Amino acid sequence: MRRAGRLAGLVLKEISRLMNPGVTTKDLDVRAEKMIRDAGAVPTFLGYCGYPASICASLNDEVVHGIPHPKRVLKEGDIVSIDVGVTLDGFVGDTAGTFPVGRVSEEARRLLETTRRSLEKGMEQARVGRRLGDVSSAIQVCAESAGFSVVRDYSGHGIGRQMHEGPSIPNFGAAGTGIRLEEGLVLALEPMINQSDWKVKVLGDGWTVVTRDGGLSAHFEHTVAVTSDGPEILTSV
Ligand code: MF3
Ligand code: CO
Ligand code: CO
Repeated sequence: MRRAGRLAGLVLKEISRLMNPGVTTKDLDVRAEKMIRDAGAVPTFLGYCGYPASICASLNDEVVHGIPHPKRVLKEGDIVSIDVGVTLDGFVGDTAGTFPVGRVSEEARRLLETTRRSLEKGMEQARVGRRLGDVSSAIQVCAESAGFSVVRDYSGHGIGRQMHEGPSIPNFGAAGTGIRLEEGLVLALEPMINQSDWKVKVLGDGWTVVTRDGGLSAHFEHTVAVTSDGPEILTSV
């Protein structure tokens, strides 16, 4: 899982360097798929429940699961959420981040930083003996105290030989509730935070999730192992 996580992290980092006006989301997908296959891994998302690409690329009011497309061109001021999953030697790494294209609004920057920080607060709770609700609550408190809202319809998840394993990890909840975390558990923590209202809907393509009110949304994700030495972030590079 360390190796799969590291590769996913490297791919996300490489894709984040390509966030320039004029680049299409399909360009990003092609680059990611090549990098994953060159490393001897398989893009986990491709064919997952029929998903047609190797990464998700979600712009502005798109929350998650945006499908890369050759006509979707990045422009200055956009924020772009990229989600990468790789399967390497039978184990999965899953990581995401939201990146600015050129200069973005102050509010957009604050949303990105807050979502990144809420993931950090959640990961900090991924410790032996803490409860799942401690993770959820830490994420929620961070996002909401900055004036943003937590998407309810999608959650983090356990991860291992499959991308989505138990337990499901909502990005909201009460501290001191839920299962106790044990050594060896690996979690994909992934706050999806909206600028204004948390309500979302799925577009007619059956995949793209957007905010109902058209506000911006951000998404950060790491694969994190619960170890006797504390949280180990497998997808950081
Ligand atoms: N990687 C996403 C998650 O974080 C799931 C993507 S599903 C796909 O859980 F089908 F779009 F690939
Ligand atoms: Co993901
Ligand atoms: Co995930």
